[in-house]
Amino acid sequence: MNNKPLVAAAFGYKTPRVPIWFLRQAGRYLPEYMEVRRKVDFVELCRSPELASEVTLQPLRRYDVDAAIIFSDILIPCTAMGQTLTFDKGHGPELSNTVRSAADLARLKHPDVQKDLGYVGDAIALTKQGMKPAQTMIGFAGAPFTVASYMIEGSGSKTFTEVKKLRYLEPQTFKGLLDLLADVTVDYLLMQVQAGAECLMLFDTWANQMTSADYRDFVFPAVNKVIEAVKSRWDGPVIYYPGQSLELLFELSGIRADVLAIDWRARMPRAVALIENLGLNVSVQGNLDPQAMLAPESLLRQMVRDVLEAGTKARGHIFNVGHGLQPHTPPDSVAIAIDEVRRFEAERAKQGHG
Ligand code: CP3
Repeated sequence: MNNKPLVAAAFGYKTPRVPIWFLRQAGRYLPEYMEVRRKVDFVELCRSPELASEVTLQPLRRYDVDAAIIFSDILIPCTAMGQTLTFDKGHGPELSNTVRSAADLARLKHPDVQKDLGYVGDAIALTKQGMKPAQTMIGFAGAPFTVASYMIEGSGSKTFTEVKKLRYLEPQTFKGLLDLLADVTVDYLLMQVQAGAECLMLFDTWANQMTSADYRDFVFPAVNKVIEAVKSRWDGPVIYYPGQSLELLFELSGIRADVLAIDWRARMPRAVALIENLGLNVSVQGNLDPQAMLAPESLLRQMVRDVLEAGTKARGHIFNVGHGLQPHTPPDSVAIAIDEVRRFEAERAKQGHG
């Protein structure tokens, strides 16, 4: 797998090429994506292997990126557990049958991932036919806590009130939901590996909504159990995104992930130094501000360079944005960011690095 720059960097090997891809690289900023979306709704798009594969490949046709991430959503598995997922215009995701009691938890199904979610695997297999050998196919899932937060709230939330109620009033039910999600997520990720995923990413976007103590006692054990179980059966790399907070790095001792995805709010040099001081043996991914794509070209290039400089001090570095690209991203800015990465590499090669 070391002919793939992304996999090599994830494991901490120095690569002459800095691997690069973008969170939400397929999506609403691309006119060709909007073209597909005019015809189908988002959940339908996720369920169609042909269409999901088509939009996954769209950014690879435009840009010289090192990876594709399968087009889906972290809430898709909830649809196989007994909830209905909708994305109404202008709203975020909404899930029916919220989980707020032991009885609600008992009603959830442990899906047969092949039968109920096999379309994600089919999309992965199809997408690989359109990729170059050096490009990496990334599969993904939400981390148990972040998925649980949507299952409990029934939508996005600013205060996470229902999550907190369940945590404080029915901690056993809260933990039971995390345990169930951890088991389902292991099956779901291994199904993606079997279909051809060569790297896995776990999104824990809302991890920072819990106290550090609750992160340590509930959130971390659930996600690390997933990573451990997957790694006991597969030797590829795992990327973990612990949400927006550097504070959580203090709770990550023993994490089995190979890469930590760093949010754009963090100073990359500080994140890299902290990871080293804490003895976390991981590479880093990130962390350009996705909205730096709106900056004038010279500023965008400088910001890309600052991230790259910081990345040279890490065990390994995968260049990316520090959260998903936004719908108003100018597609040409993405090409400029990639070009700056390639210039940086070329200069370093001349100086005898890498
Ligand atoms: O290209 C990729 O990065 C892969 C596809 C992907 C999507 N969602 C597609 C999507 C991935 C990896 C996700 C993960 C995801 N989904 C997360 C974790 C990462 C993060 O952003 O923090 C979360 C929290 C979700 C839940 C979710 N899905 C929300 C809150 C929303 C609404 C916000 C928005 O941007 O519209 C979605 C919808 C969604 N997921 C879209 C896409 C392309 C937009 C759908 C559309 O209208 O076309």
